[in-house]
Amino acid sequence: MSDFTSGFWNVYVIVLTLGSIAFCAWILIAMSKTTGQGGGAGPAGKTTDTTGHVWDEDLKEFNNPLPKWWSNLFWITIAFSIVYLILYPGLGSVKGVLGWSSAGQYEKERSEVDTRVKPLYDKFAAMELAKVAADPEARAMGERLFLNNCAQCHGSDAGGARGFPNLRDGDWLYGGEPEKIVETITGGRMGVMPALGAVLGEAGTKDVAAYVRSLSGLPQDTLRAQAGKPLFEANCSACHGADGTGMQAIGAPNLTDNVWLYGSSEATILEGIQKGRNVNVSEGTLAMPSFKETLGAAKIHLVAAYVWGLTNKPAAR
Ligand code: HEC
Ligand code: HEC
Repeated sequence: MSDFTSGFWNVYVIVLTLGSIAFCAWILIAMSKTTGQGGGAGPAGKTTDTTGHVWDEDLKEFNNPLPKWWSNLFWITIAFSIVYLILYPGLGSVKGVLGWSSAGQYEKERSEVDTRVKPLYDKFAAMELAKVAADPEARAMGERLFLNNCAQCHGSDAGGARGFPNLRDGDWLYGGEPEKIVETITGGRMGVMPALGAVLGEAGTKDVAAYVRSLSGLPQDTLRAQAGKPLFEANCSACHGADGTGMQAIGAPNLTDNVWLYGSSEATILEGIQKGRNVNVSEGTLAMPSFKETLGAAKIHLVAAYVWGLTNKPAAR
C-alpha cells in the first residue's frame, strides 16, 4: 500500500474502508430499530410486524429486529476492525501505530536466519571449492540452493531441457572449472548466435546444416555436407572453431560431440542457422540470469560447488 503513484488512491482506499464500516454500523442501527407494530401475535404474545409473506395458509414471516447476540457479534467485528486499522497498516498508506509491515517481518526473520547460518557460510566461503564439494553438509546446502533457484530451468536433477544446458553431462558451454562455474552463476550468460539464413541462402543453409550433422557422425546428405564445409569455414568457424569444437569464451557450443542444447534434427539446426539464437530480444531470449545480487558470493560458492560436484568426484580430505 506504500507504492501508490498518486495521493488520490490513498484517499480513495481510506474513504472506501471507513465508508464500508460506517455503512455496516448504520445497517445494524437501522435494523435494531424495527419494533413490532401491528400484525399478528408474535412470540410471547407480543404483537409483531410481519413482512406480509404468508405460506401454507398461516405461516407468516415476522419482521422482528435482529437477535441481540447476533447484532452484538457484528458490533464486535466492527470494533475489531477499527482497533486493527489503528494498530496495523490497512487504511491506504497509513502505517498503523505498531509500525508493522510484512516486508519488515520478512527482513527480520531473514536476518535472524542469516546470523544463525552465517558462520557456516563463512566457513565454506573460505574453503577451496573442490573441498566444499566434498563436504556432505555443504553439498546438502548447495543442493537446496539449487532446487530453490536453478531447478525451474535446469531441472531438479540438473539434467537440463531444450535450450537449458544439462549440468551433469560433463559438456560445458562456458567451461566446467570451478572459477568458470562461479563466473557463470555470478554474472549470468547469454550466448548469441547470429541469423545467417540471409547470408547463406536456402541451399547454403541446408548444405551447412548437413555438414554440422556430419561433424557428430549423424546421417546426412554426403554431397551437401561436402558443399557445406567451406561455407562453415567462412561463416561459422570464427565462433565454433575451424574444427567445430566450439569456443567457451563466448559459449559457442562444440558441434562435434553429439551433445545438443537445442537438438540434432535437421529442422532444429536449420532453424538456428536461419533465425539465430537469442538475437531478437523482442521474440524472447534464453539466458542464464545473474545471481550476484539475489544469492551473493557465499551462496554462489556453495551452489557452484554442488554443480561442480555433479561431474567431478570430489576428493574427500
Ligand atoms: C531462467 C532460467 C535459468 C535459471 C533460473 C538458471 N539458469 Fe543456468 N542457464 C540458463 C540458460 C538458458 C543457460 C545457457 C546460457 C547460454 O546458452 O548462453 C544457463 C547456463 C548455465 C551454466 C553454464 C553451463 C555450461 O555448459 O557452461 C551453468 C553452470 C548454470 N547455468 C548454472 C545455474 C545455476 C547454478 C543456477 C541457479 C543458481 C542457474 N543456472 C539458474 C538458464 C537458467
Ligand atoms: C558470432 C558467433 C557465432 C557464429 C558466427 C555462429 N554461431 Fe552457432 N552458435 C553460437 C552460440 C553462442 C551458440 C549458442 C546459443 C545459445 O547459447 O543459445 C550457437 C549455437 C549453434 C547451434 C546449436 C547447437 C546445439 O547444441 O543445439 C548450432 C547447430 C550452430 N550454432 C551452428 C552454427 C552454424 C552452422 C554457423 C555458421 C553458419 C554458426 N553456428 C555461426 C555462436 C555463433
